[in-house]
Parts: sequence; structure tokens; C-alpha cells
Amino acid sequence: MQEIIKKINNLKREKNAVILAHCYQNEEIDNVADFVGDSLYLSQMAAKTDADIILFAGVYFMAQTAKILCPDKRVLLPRLESGCRMADMISLTQLREFKSKYPNIPCVCYINSTAEVKAECDICCTSSNAVKVVKSLNAEEVLFLPDTYLGKWVEAQLGNIKVITYPGFCPTHLQIRPQDIEDARKNYPNALVLAHPECHQSVTKLADYVGSTTGIMKFAAESKEKQFIIATEKGVADRLQRDYPEKEFILVKENIICPNMKWHTLPDILNSLEREEHEIEVDKQTASKALKCIERMLG
Ligand code: 13P
Ligand code: SF4
Repeated sequence: MQEIIKKINNLKREKNAVILAHCYQNEEIDNVADFVGDSLYLSQMAAKTDADIILFAGVYFMAQTAKILCPDKRVLLPRLESGCRMADMISLTQLREFKSKYPNIPCVCYINSTAEVKAECDICCTSSNAVKVVKSLNAEEVLFLPDTYLGKWVEAQLGNIKVITYPGFCPTHLQIRPQDIEDARKNYPNALVLAHPECHQSVTKLADYVGSTTGIMKFAAESKEKQFIIATEKGVADRLQRDYPEKEFILVKENIICPNMKWHTLPDILNSLEREEHEIEVDKQTASKALKCIERMLG
């Protein structure tokens, strides 16, 4: 493994490349990543970097977002199979049909969406800033897509805004059921339950804290408590356990894994940097419209 890490680091220097890795990535990827974080943090880092190549260890829409933010840079995704199953639930045609049912209502898209979809929405959000973004529109009603559960969670936080959601969801987070929370609480009665808002409302309403990947990590870091039940992707529980060995992090149930996030390995990253593939392209017209949607969020 040391040999591969060395080769990747040499190539990064030679080609002025930067590696952005989502928190759900396998532990080995941290050895070569320049920035590790959630989707908001990584898009902020992509927007700022002066590297010539951005290699994204994450899912397709994240690499696409980096390309939209940095059209002059080469953006690489080591494994093309790594699409987000939620983002793939809404096509441009489906978006247009959804919007046509609710004319003249502002439309917020979760960053987990394709460039084509972003291009026809008013503003983007991530799970870290969804409440703030929806509120900023000062509207009585807002369309939200593709994640119906994040949208409904935002509605519950705000109270006075109707959030009309598209029926998309994350298959990984929906594996978590209320019974899993109840079982975990029985086994660990002193632990706090931390859940991602992509979970079903019947799960988030049982949690002690609901927040994005960064929100969950920050809460666990700052809390005086010692035991936490993690109701999100396994990578978050594993990372927290590595970062805070004095605390205990219990994944709410086995195998809460996003298989697409886990495709990338160190050999894939090496291969991708050597061959400069797979390069992500977004057509200029779509990219310039999608950029406005993302920039409104970044402010
Ligand atoms: P974050 O915005 O918390 O990084 O989440 C991205 C994601 O895909 C969660 O499933
Ligand atoms: Fe998409 Fe769900 Fe995987 Fe996140 S965990 S990338 S929302 S499929």
C-alpha cells in the first residue's frame, strides 16, 4: 500500500492535482486525500483550488459539480460506476413534469442531482444548509427535489413554509427503520442517536440529533457523552471511531453502506491519475445554467 500511496503523491505533485474525498470513502483513501468532508465542504474546496486536476473520490454528481465550478480544470472520477442512486431518480423530463404541476413556485434542488436538473432549478442546497436555503427564498411554498425525506425534514424545521417534495429517496438511508433505532436503544440505553435527514421521518423523529454528515461529526466531537448510535452511512461511524477513540460509535445496524461511494480504491486512483481518466465533461450551456444554481447556494 505504501508504494501506491507514494506513486499517487508523486503524480499529484507532477500534475498539480488535488484529491477531494467524501467522508463515506474507505479509510485507505484518506492517505492520499487533500480534503475530506461532506458535499458542501468539498464543493467549496473545488471552487477555491488552483490545481490543474481535481480527482473526486465520491459519486458522479460531486465530480460534475466540481467541473461546473471549475470549467477550465480537468475533473477525474476514478470509477464511472459511482453514481448516486437518489440523483438518478429524477431526469430532466421528470423535473419538467413536476415543475409544470406547480407553476411559479421556486424550486430547490439537493446537490444530489444531475447538472441538467440543476440547470432548471432556482437554487441548490446540501443537507448542511437546506433549512437556510429554503428559508432564504422568503416564499410560502417551495418545490424540493429529489429527496422527499430531506424536504419534509426541512419543512418540519421551518414550520411556516410548505415544502412540496418530489418522491426521490436514498436507498441506503431508507434501510434504517424505526425498529432499528428502538433495538439499538435497548442495547445501548445511554447512547445518543444521531441521524441524517435523508432517513425516513419515522426514524428522524426518534433521533436525539438530526443533521448532515458534518453536523453529525461536529455534534459527536463536541458532546460530553461517550456513546453514540449512528444512523447514517457506515463511513461516518468508522471515521468518528478513528477520530475519537475515547468514545464509542455504534452503527445503527449492519451494512448501512452506499455501494457506489465505496467503488474507488487506491489502485483506481493511481490508474485514474496516470491515464487522466475518467474525465467528467458538462456541456457549456447546461454548465453555465447549473453554475448559477450552485453559486446562489455558495453565496
Ligand atoms: P452530505 O451532504 O452530508 O455530504 O451527504 C451527501 C450524501 O450523499 C449523503 O448520502
Ligand atoms: Fe446517493 Fe444515498 Fe449514496 Fe448519498 S448515500 S450518494 S444519497 S445513494
